Amino acid sequence: MKDDTKTIVFVVTFGLPVLVLAFIFGLYAFGCGTTDSCTGIEKPVVTPIPTLVAATMPAPKVGAEAGPLVIKCQVTAVDLIGAWVEAGVPETDSFQFTDMKGQTCTATFAGDVQRLFSEANLWFSGASACTTCHYADIEKATFNLDMSSYAGILAGSQRKDGAATGVDILGGGEWESSLLYQMVYAPNGESTIGRQIMPLGRPASVPAKGPVIFAGTPVELSGE
Ligand code: HEC
Repeated sequence: MKDDTKTIVFVVTFGLPVLVLAFIFGLYAFGCGTTDSCTGIEKPVVTPIPTLVAATMPAPKVGAEAGPLVIKCQVTAVDLIGAWVEAGVPETDSFQFTDMKGQTCTATFAGDVQRLFSEANLWFSGASACTTCHYADIEKATFNLDMSSYAGILAGSQRKDGAATGVDILGGGEWESSLLYQMVYAPNGESTIGRQIMPLGRPASVPAKGPVIFAGTPVELSGE
């Protein structure tokens, strides 16, 4: 055999096992260090992943358990008051009206109509409630009109010196000829009788029949 062939045979038969042994020893040295109590390579400290808290949302209720439906009808403020007046101004009984989608709906004075007079920002953003000016102290209220209660609205305006009744603002049940209608119906932002439109300060951008509001319930859903 030639000399360099001998070298290759030597390297393979002795060098390779030495390398393998050195590798195994290296592993041992890394894992166990210089001690003979080998416990293996320490695992790195891992931050535990927090266990998610179980969601505790109550199961949604369905069917009759879900309670009354909150589906409302949509109607203009003026049309809603009109339906109430034409129905004979019921104090507690419900009355019907046709909403913008053409469905028959039912509403009440306390639940649907009263807030048109007692809520600020309803007719337009920044609007005072009617009751800011037309309130229960009729001697001081504007035009001696009290819009804050059923009785006050029926008693009318211009109740000078606290009179029990004054000028009927409800047109005797004929909505479109009533003073109330003439004060709140304002095509192009102007009243049809040349007076200031209500609520006072109402801009021309408010539609003729006031804002479209959610009110009442569709008759099919109301159970009436
Ligand atoms: C900031 C005060 C104010 C607010 C708010 C207000 N009014 Fe008036 N109201 C007046 C004034 C002032 C007049 C007289 C206007 C005129 O003659 O041009 C008046 C007149 C009226 C009249 C006529 C009374 C009569 O005998 O001639 C009615 C009806 C009326 N208001 C209803 C309402 C309704 C309904 C609202 C709410 C949608 C309302 N007002 C909000 C001040 C107010």
